[in-house]
Amino acid sequence: MPVDLSDESQYDRARLRQWARGRARSAGVDRRDLLRLFAAGAAAAGPLGAAVAAPARAAGATPATPTALATPTTPATPAAPAAPGIVKPLPPELFTLRGTNAETNFAALRGTGHLTPLDRFFVRNHTVTPRLDAADWRLSVWGDALSGGPVEFSYDRLRSLPAVERTLFIECAGNGRSFYTTQQGQTVTGTAWTLGAIGVARWRGARLSDVLRRAGVTRRAVDVLPRGRDDEVVTNGVNLGRVRRPLPVSKALDDVILAYEMNGEPLPADHGGPVRVVVPDWIGISSIKWVGDIEVSAEPLYTPWNTDLYRLFGPDQPPQGSAPLTRQTLKSAFELQSGATVPVHRTRLLTGRSWSGAAPVHRVEVSTDGGTHWQRARFHDVPRRGSWVRWSVPWTPRTTGPTALLARATDATGRTQPDTAAHNTQGYLFDAVVRHPVTVV
Ligand code: MTE
Repeated sequence: MPVDLSDESQYDRARLRQWARGRARSAGVDRRDLLRLFAAGAAAAGPLGAAVAAPARAAGATPATPTALATPTTPATPAAPAAPGIVKPLPPELFTLRGTNAETNFAALRGTGHLTPLDRFFVRNHTVTPRLDAADWRLSVWGDALSGGPVEFSYDRLRSLPAVERTLFIECAGNGRSFYTTQQGQTVTGTAWTLGAIGVARWRGARLSDVLRRAGVTRRAVDVLPRGRDDEVVTNGVNLGRVRRPLPVSKALDDVILAYEMNGEPLPADHGGPVRVVVPDWIGISSIKWVGDIEVSAEPLYTPWNTDLYRLFGPDQPPQGSAPLTRQTLKSAFELQSGATVPVHRTRLLTGRSWSGAAPVHRVEVSTDGGTHWQRARFHDVPRRGSWVRWSVPWTPRTTGPTALLARATDATGRTQPDTAAHNTQGYLFDAVVRHPVTVV
């Protein structure tokens, strides 16, 4: 059967087979290193699962960041360094710092609109935010699947191409990871996100397909590899090079955007300014920030970001890793601090958001008694593919004491959030209903 390379699962499975047989080229990392890393990733511990890596330039100076959720009872909040290399202000009421990353506090979204305001959009950096000037920015498109040599695009040339605008979420594949530990008692590695590694923005930019066509993409093209201009990533003594993850040419020519605006503003530095890739529906790592060059290859490509990282490993997975991470999964979050206290006998509006990478959200149910009774939430947005829906339910607590709030979404494919997420060592794709503790006083 022909492989549909626009389906990430089929794509990655096909690539893995090709790579294992030595037919895919390892883009920029020594094949022996990649094999070593791959073997390590396949072993249950998966050292590369530690999603926070030291920046290449600061490798000697940066103390190792503890990211593994070693014991099920450990609260998933590793110490945050004072300067995580993020440019925008990170006030504690808006963000929780996690290594080089900043997680949006969901409570800080209450009362904001459908789009995540730029001052509270999460940041996921493998190293540090580089400061790039739009006037000097150049995109080089090159590779053996072009009809000629490399083609350069300046910022102005990119902006002169027909513009598209779309409202889309970007969500880290590890969003919700800490609940594998705190809710399911399982050990996972990686940044201990709660539910705030997601944001929704209105992106404006050029179509990647327009850029590739102007660069002379030919029918020989198989993979398209955008690469960031941020520092090289060094992990476990191996320099993985710059952040990059191949896209199959079918996806690259379909709906991918080279975005230069976010919510009507020039793209901020922390979110990839002046230009980033935005890949609708795909896990966040696909949306390469600070894009500097794009290789268009006639051969399948492999990088650490589609071998050891962003695949599923664990006892329930094949030894070579999963059927890969495809689209984001289904989740729901309350716009309320975890552990909040709420007054008894007073009616309040519980608000939250739900989203799915597969389809628009169809229904959200909320329980205020730990999952015994459920009521349907009212929607405040028309559910759309690629974005979240805001919802609310009124609640008048009748008894004092601790309880758990639960929100459970069902999307238009009929999939409902399960009680338990399927464990994998790197803690990706958590989709279970989260128990949100509150105390009625
Ligand atoms: N692109 C580059 N060049 N460097 C990075 O560290 N992080 C990726 C992706 N693109 C990353 C990158 C990951 S894992 C995610 S989830 C998103 O960017 C986060 O985008 P944001 O920081 O704008 O929220």
